[in-house]
Amino acid sequence: MRTPLIAGNWKLFKTISEATAFVTALKPLVAEVQGVEVVISPVFTALSSVAAAAAGSRIRVAAQDCYWEEEGAFTGEVAPGLLKDAGCSHVIIGHSERRQYFGETDETANRKTRAALATGLTVLLCVGETLVQREAGDTFTVIESQITGGLQSLVAEELKQVVIAYEPVWAIGTGKTASDEQAQQVHAFIRQLVAKLYSQADADQILILYGGSVKPENVKGLMSQPDIDGALVGGASLKADSFAAIVRFNS
Ligand code: 13P
Repeated sequence: MRTPLIAGNWKLFKTISEATAFVTALKPLVAEVQGVEVVISPVFTALSSVAAAAAGSRIRVAAQDCYWEEEGAFTGEVAPGLLKDAGCSHVIIGHSERRQYFGETDETANRKTRAALATGLTVLLCVGETLVQREAGDTFTVIESQITGGLQSLVAEELKQVVIAYEPVWAIGTGKTASDEQAQQVHAFIRQLVAKLYSQADADQILILYGGSVKPENVKGLMSQPDIDGALVGGASLKADSFAAIVRFNS
């Protein structure tokens, strides 16, 4: 009922030529895969070249952030409409690195989410607890406030264009993946929360991705969990063969 989504977040890596070469290499590796959506997320400067290279394939393109205004005197910002113009269908919002280093809050993530949805982009809204929060027993409280804050004032119709990515901060770039059970526990909690905030039908349709040291070796176990609908992959998405192996988790 939910089509799995595998997304690669390249963070601050790859020039335009490296990014387009990746797309050329990835296309044949994922052409035959059935029933999986594939998204890659390069830096802003490579978006339009990557979108052009991916045209006609199943690969979709996401930006890693956006602003909430469409235009104006906002030096350095990029509007959702410009991302669409560059060929994006998706945008990542509220990544923990943006929260940690660039002052992203639930409130700014919510403003960006609403603006991106109004433009017709699909939002990958990221949430996740730090190690300190997990060890203090605050995981569910943190996730609940990030989700209620991030989805603030969104109606059910808008929620159809939202994908939630659960990325425990302690598992990002550390090689330390959440166990299948740990991830499933939080995913189930998120789905129940969406049911409470919206409806069971909305909760049943929303995609919840796991992120944090996903690799070809651990993706199958994660994807076998009932509430894990895909992955947001950092390091292992930088090489076409390892990313393709994750996309082909089912074969
Ligand atoms: P890693 O897969 O490198 O741990 O990164 C996860 C991530 O932050 C994806 O957004």
